[in-house]
Amino acid sequence: MAVRLDDLPLRDDLRGLTPYGAPQAALPVALNVNENTHPVPEEVADDILDGIAHALRDVNRYPDREFTALREGFADYLGHGLSRDQIWVANGSNEVLQHLLQAFAGPGRTAFGFAPTYSMYPLLTRATGASYVAGVRESDYTLDADEAARQIEEADPDVVFLCAPNNPTGTPLRLDVIEAIYAASRGMVIVDEAYQEFAPRDERSALTLLPGRERLVVSRTMSKAFAFAGARVGYLAADPAVIDALRLVRLPYHLSALTQAAATAALRHAPAMLSMVDEIVAQRDRISATLSALGYQPHESWTNFVLFGGVDDPAATWQGLYDRGVLIRDVGIAHSLRVTAGTESESTAFLDALASLGR
Ligand SMILES: Cc1ncc(COP(=O)(O)O)c(C=O)c1O
Repeated sequence: MAVRLDDLPLRDDLRGLTPYGAPQAALPVALNVNENTHPVPEEVADDILDGIAHALRDVNRYPDREFTALREGFADYLGHGLSRDQIWVANGSNEVLQHLLQAFAGPGRTAFGFAPTYSMYPLLTRATGASYVAGVRESDYTLDADEAARQIEEADPDVVFLCAPNNPTGTPLRLDVIEAIYAASRGMVIVDEAYQEFAPRDERSALTLLPGRERLVVSRTMSKAFAFAGARVGYLAADPAVIDALRLVRLPYHLSALTQAAATAALRHAPAMLSMVDEIVAQRDRISATLSALGYQPHESWTNFVLFGGVDDPAATWQGLYDRGVLIRDVGIAHSLRVTAGTESESTAFLDALASLGR
């Protein structure tokens, strides 16, 4: 007989949990996990390959445990006067968040996020033995500064997740709300800016709030705007003392020499890597406009995806699109589905398939 999970001496607090499981199906149009669907530009790919080839010659040795060149690269890219001792990097921002939770959450502690938000926050939290508290948003998914601060005071968490702009809703988060939440909290406040590059250019990042706020962390990723999801590179900026805390929990040499080389080379070409952002934003806005014309209710989005309401039966619409070769995401919000903005032809394929389903 096959052994089941329940037959194993699994940690009690992991029993009954479901792993992260966005479907990975080989459909012609995959718009379900908010990747950048444009490939890495040819000339950049060549330089990245050169970097990896060079690193391969020394791969018999452990890599630079402090990934110094990469941290310098991210400090330059982020600007705002940041230096490399304020930068941390890991295998995707999921691992960055995991390191933060390992250092600042753990057994007996609590992390907090305003639902609906990124589905990995509770999973990562519980995996460290901490408990997760879900706060409440306004009906349009925004946060009101006073109300958000009140919820934080009441829950008194050790870690607060603020997804800005928010996944899966696309909702922007105003900086005054972040300031109010920081002032109301005693724990670490993580602003997850995974989608920041898709926000309007003149909008300020939470990076501008870092000076004088040693409990504030801003995390980013190369998986979205940078078209580098498969390379697994996420990073954060924070006070140097926070970086010291993360050194306590990371595995030695957690960032492979090949990852460091690839990311360092990609960062040298940041403008080329980010060159498709404007095109993706244009497709996002076109998707929203067309969804409205089709009678759906798209929510305001500062990301590379659109959450839309007005779907009578999300499971049936999801399946209808799947049968037409288009994969999007049912994120479990009533009467809603989420679609990533793809290339022009992918976005058209989605909109045509949806229109063909009728309402
Ligand atoms: C809000 C948010 N944060 C973090 C991540 C994790 O990204 P990665 O681990 O690829 O950097 C995602 C991925 O979808 C996300 O939506």
